[in-house]
Parts: sequence; structure tokens; C-alpha cells
Amino acid sequence: MSDPKKLFIKTYGCQMNVYDSERMGAALVAGGYVETDTADDADLVILNTCHIREKAAEKVYSDLGRLRPLRQAKAAGGGKMTIAVAGCVAQAEGAEIVRRQPMVDLVVGPQAYHRLPAMVARSTASGVAEIDTEFPAEDKFDHLPQPPKAQRAPAAFLTVQEGCDKFCAFCVVPYTRGSEVSRPAAKLLSEARDLVSRGVAEITLLGQNVNAYHGAAFDSDWSLARLIRALAEIDGLERIRYTTSHPNDMTDDLIAAHGEVAKLMPYLHLPVQSGSDRVLAAMNRRHTAENYIRVIERVRAARPDIAISGDFITGFPGETEVDFQATLALVREVRYAQSYSFKYSPRPGTPAATAEQVPEAAKADRLARLQTLLTEQQAAFQSDCIGRTLAVLIEKPGRHPGQMVGRSPYLQAVHLDCDPGSTGKIVDAVIIGAATNSLSGRLVTT
Ligand code: SAH
Ligand code: SF4
Ligand code: F3S
Repeated sequence: MSDPKKLFIKTYGCQMNVYDSERMGAALVAGGYVETDTADDADLVILNTCHIREKAAEKVYSDLGRLRPLRQAKAAGGGKMTIAVAGCVAQAEGAEIVRRQPMVDLVVGPQAYHRLPAMVARSTASGVAEIDTEFPAEDKFDHLPQPPKAQRAPAAFLTVQEGCDKFCAFCVVPYTRGSEVSRPAAKLLSEARDLVSRGVAEITLLGQNVNAYHGAAFDSDWSLARLIRALAEIDGLERIRYTTSHPNDMTDDLIAAHGEVAKLMPYLHLPVQSGSDRVLAAMNRRHTAENYIRVIERVRAARPDIAISGDFITGFPGETEVDFQATLALVREVRYAQSYSFKYSPRPGTPAATAEQVPEAAKADRLARLQTLLTEQQAAFQSDCIGRTLAVLIEKPGRHPGQMVGRSPYLQAVHLDCDPGSTGKIVDAVIIGAATNSLSGRLVTT
């Protein structure tokens, strides 16, 4: 008998890609592959790519360049390394990828992953590149199994909604992921129960616009809030999170759920992009700075300790120093616990790409000033936790012997000494130290 074939998956971009990679990996493992953590000597390499900013997209080509000698070495030994490009670059560039990098055997867009095993078989047999960037009607997840129990971490993702109909002027997602599709609630509840039976204690519901979740039909009675309430009924599921939300879809029932559902964690990632109404209008965000701040106030009224996280773009076409000052003012008003900020990157095919651009130096200068403020706020949030007792879901061993790492309700990593047998359990820890990206705690023993 020959050795099982080796599979290596590299994932770029957002959590939806992380989740897709997990399900693709599980499908291929069920088909006889074993996953490895290096591309060396792999029989199948999948690059699950991101197209959101130019840097992310270009990284794929430099990584492909690095695979070339590995592929040649494999061929010299009489084997074959099949190379697949999946994800949002695959969707956006399609056959162009094979033209630029002819050693690519397969290009597969995010909605066609259930066809991947068949594509691998066909391209292996024919030696001809396979390209599939369709948006099929069927749900890819119906045909992609869950990873086996042994590999299951206590915290899991669950994609409930994909795609976006909002068409922000800077963003490729509506083109790469297609229009908004919500998965049926009954299916999600059964997948969640299955995850819990595999030892999962925390589920993060994923969607590009997760709070636009509406069940299988637009006129269904389901909403994200109702889904969260239904999930909260599952015994053994201890924590629920969701990401990423749009400010315009923060409905009353979702805000209320933050006050009423104990299992819904006090953390909200709510991108705003800019604090200037002029820029927000040019971005086609369809909300003002004031609308956003009111949403935050209402969420805080429902759940006073909630940690707020955001996304920001500096140097969107037309942004002036005055507009940028409005962003700083919004940040001062909101006080963020966590944030992600980027220089505007023109993306082919999006409306803003052809507008007159802000000079690179101004984009970079504004980003640096914004990040200084955001980092101060994050540090303040972190150090305010010192002395508090937080419930920590233990996830995995830490770097030092005897140490474990878990997550606080506010999504902070917490390092503490405790029994490895606590993995998957929620323990109380007094916070005794705070760094920018993690806390250290001491186990509270009763
Ligand atoms: N669906 C989410 C975010 C999707 S993309 C939302 O509605 O906000 C994640 C983040 O990448 C965005 O929030 C935005 O801040 C950033 N981003 C998207 N396109 C970008 C671009 N062209 N240049 C720079 N940043 C971008
Ligand atoms: Fe992109 Fe806007 Fe849709 Fe978010 S809401 S995915 S930023 S188009
Ligand atoms: Fe990137 Fe696609 Fe996610 S562009 S951010 S991988 S939806």
C-alpha cells in the first residue's frame, strides 16, 4: 500500500476563509489525504487567498514563486505536487492566475469548494488546469464534512451567511463572494449541536454581513437575534459570538439580545471606516458618524461592559485632513477596545479605484496618527482589566510549562497556570498583568 497523500493548506484573509479551509481540509482528509503543516513534499497545496487589499492579493504570487522549487523537487523524485488557488483572488482573477503562473493546476472560487475533490482528480488525469469560479445554487457546506472530533478546538467558527449586497465603493467582497445568501436556521442549529457534541463550547457565527442574516428566505421569521436565542438553548454551548456586522443592520432585537442572552459575549466588532459624513457618503456606507455613535450608545445601554472593535480606512479618495480629524473625533468618542486600520488600497473593478487618489504619504501619515490613538485606547482597555476576575475559556497549552491560554469574554487572550485537563472548560481568573495583545491571570480556586 502506498503512503497517504499529503495536503497543505495556507489560509490568507478573514475568518470565513479559515472556516472554508477547515471544511475543504475535512473533505480531502475524508478522501484519503493527511494534512501537514509544511508545503515541502506535499501532494496537494491549496492557497486559500484574499483579495481585499493589493498587498494581500500580491502575496499569493510571491508564495507561488516559493512553491516552484518544491514542485520541481517533487517532480524530480517522480511525484507530483498539485497546486490549487482558492478563495477571493481565485474568484477575482480566474484564468488570469494560470496565465501569470502556469504551474497552477486548479483555480476554485469560494462557492465551488464542494467540487474540489473532483477537480483534483480531473486535473491529475488530464494534466490540464481546472477553473471553477461559478456561484452554484447548492450550498457547498452540504457536501463538505466537519473535521473529526480529535482535531476540534473548544472554540469553533460557523458560517451562517455569505456574500454582500452593500457595495461599499472600496470593497471587492460583493464581487468575490457574490450576493448575500443566508443558510437555513434548522441546518445551522443542527451543525451547532454537532459541534457541541464534538467538544465545542464557543461558536462564532460568521458572515461578511452577519447581522443581515435572514434565514433561508428573505421573508422568513429568522434574524440573527433569533438564531442567537435559539443557539443559546443548546446545552453545553457556553459562548456565542458573531462577526462581521454592518452598522445599518444592528436591529433592536439584536441590540436587546446583548442585554438578555447571557451566552452572547460582550464584544462587538462594528466597522465604521471613517468619521466624516462626506467620506462615508462617498464610500456608499449609507450611514453617518452620528448614526454609528447612536448604535454604539444603544448597545452600551443594553450591555454596559461591551468591548467595541472597529475597522478604519485612511486616505479614501477625496479624504482631507478635516475629514480625517472627524475620524479621530469619532474614535475619541467611541473608545475602542480593539481595532483594525488600513490605508486605502484601490481595487480593480470597484468604483473608488478610478477616482483621484490621496497621495501615499498622506495615507501613511494619517494611518500612523490613527493607530497611535487606537493603540492608546486598546492599552487602556487592557490595563483596566487588572484586578478584575474574568471567566476564561481554556483553549490550549501556553508557551511555558504548566501554562495554558484561554479567552476572556472580551476576546482577550489570557495566560494562566492551570491543569491541561481544563481545556474546553471555563475557569475564573484574577487578571494580574496586561500587555497590548494579552492578559495574564491567576486561577481562582474555590
Ligand atoms: N463586511 C465588513 C468588512 C469586510 S472587509 C464590513 O462591512 O465592514 C474588512 C475590512 O477591510 C473593511 O472593514 C475595511 O476596513 C477593509 N477594507 C476593505 N476594502 C479595503 C480597501 N480597498 N482598502 C483598504 N481597506 C479595505
Ligand atoms: Fe465590503 Fe461594505 Fe459589504 Fe462590508 S458591507 S463586505 S465593506 S461592501
Ligand atoms: Fe479577503 Fe475574501 Fe475575506 S477578500 S477578507 S478572504 S471575503
